[in-house]
Amino acid sequence: MQRQMAEPHVREFPGPTAKQWVTYHRAVSAPSTYVYDFVLDITADAVGPFCTDTDGNVFLDFTSHVAAAPLGYNNPHVMSRLREFDLFDPLKIAGQDFYVSTGGTPESSELPGPAHLMHRLAEITEQYDMDTVFLSNTGAEAIENAMKICYDRCEDPKYGITFEGAFHGRTLGALSLNRSKAKHRRKFPELSGIHDVPFSLAGVERLERRLDPARGDIPAEQVAFVVLEPVQGEGGYEVPDPAFMSALDDVCAAHGIPIIADEIQSGVGRTGEMWASDHYDIEPDVITSAKALRVGATVASRSMFPDERGRLSSTWGAGDVIASIQGALTLEVIREEGLIDHARAKGEQLLDRLESLRREYPETIVDVRGLGLMAAIEFDEKARRDAVIEAALTRGLLTLGCGHKTLRLLPPLDVRDRELDRACELLEDALGETASAGHCA
Ligand SMILES: Cc1ncc(COP(=O)(O)O)c(C=O)c1O
Repeated sequence: MQRQMAEPHVREFPGPTAKQWVTYHRAVSAPSTYVYDFVLDITADAVGPFCTDTDGNVFLDFTSHVAAAPLGYNNPHVMSRLREFDLFDPLKIAGQDFYVSTGGTPESSELPGPAHLMHRLAEITEQYDMDTVFLSNTGAEAIENAMKICYDRCEDPKYGITFEGAFHGRTLGALSLNRSKAKHRRKFPELSGIHDVPFSLAGVERLERRLDPARGDIPAEQVAFVVLEPVQGEGGYEVPDPAFMSALDDVCAAHGIPIIADEIQSGVGRTGEMWASDHYDIEPDVITSAKALRVGATVASRSMFPDERGRLSSTWGAGDVIASIQGALTLEVIREEGLIDHARAKGEQLLDRLESLRREYPETIVDVRGLGLMAAIEFDEKARRDAVIEAALTRGLLTLGCGHKTLRLLPPLDVRDRELDRACELLEDALGETASAGHCA
């Protein structure tokens, strides 16, 4: 498959082999968040945003595996570097403190391993004076460790602040911070003292009143952290207003409350800056990253981390060696190919195209928003959003939902004009079908 000529085409969806795989999978897997019956065939052709399913259908993937494959499929640079690596077993090395070399000395090594990844993360967070990294496996673990270091440094930690619409992961601690969907949290025990405020300037004003020593109900010195997604993901691709972000920064600075920026979906170039926080007048004290990095990372200044040995640890810290290498190579490609500027420019193009779709379908599209290549269309109702996702799929375009009735698009960071055009055409067709069918069935 050649990227410059690949075309999405779907004969039958889901095809007969996909149906078999889905049945086989679901026979033993716990019900989860099945989105649609797309079955990627990892033995078939795939390049950039194009991939092949198990029935030979070719799709244009504008989900990037929910931001976890920021360079699309089979990026030539990543693939050629990985091929140089003579595989060794075990590749999962216990813990980030079981040091591992990728050959030679740290400076001369041909392949970047977990320690290189940590160095690179320190470099790309130095604008926030961060220089220390704790690697884990998932986004939720990155968040758990961010909370732990904040609780640890607070003398009498009793509170944490989160935002309406937030999503920070599925472990019990992270769940306590979530405010996007009730089904994530229902019946599960919660961390005490987590309060939420609206994700807006009004929310910061409310927080300020609650922290007021004379009139408020939350003693600021007992607040271990404020956690936010600089662009909300699961909650509906909500892009905050700059005035809100800078007011939040002021309030946190005035009270000495650390800010955790959850960049698990919005980071690593996705929004047209390395971190979505970079668009704003905000100074996070902790950054959490994962997805695009292939491992989880909690990044902060050394003084934010506990000194005590064994206070933070994990058997599979740093994921596995391959995952760390992929994360480090991803950062390398982003830098060498100027993908941050590219994502910004292509994101503007994409939003312009979505705006014209909104003008064409003013009754059904209620909003278009995004930052860089984190783009979204909000519909008049959930059933229509679902119908558009389905209609796009049968035309060969993979998209995802978020929020209640929003569709999100996350093309790879190196997306090309031809691919953006093709995706917008397919989306327009899908919208045409659902509008003319007077959806929503
Ligand atoms: C903003 C944000 N935080 C945390 C997470 C949790 O990451 P993981 O699924 O890797 O645990 C996600 C996952 O979607 C996310 O989008």
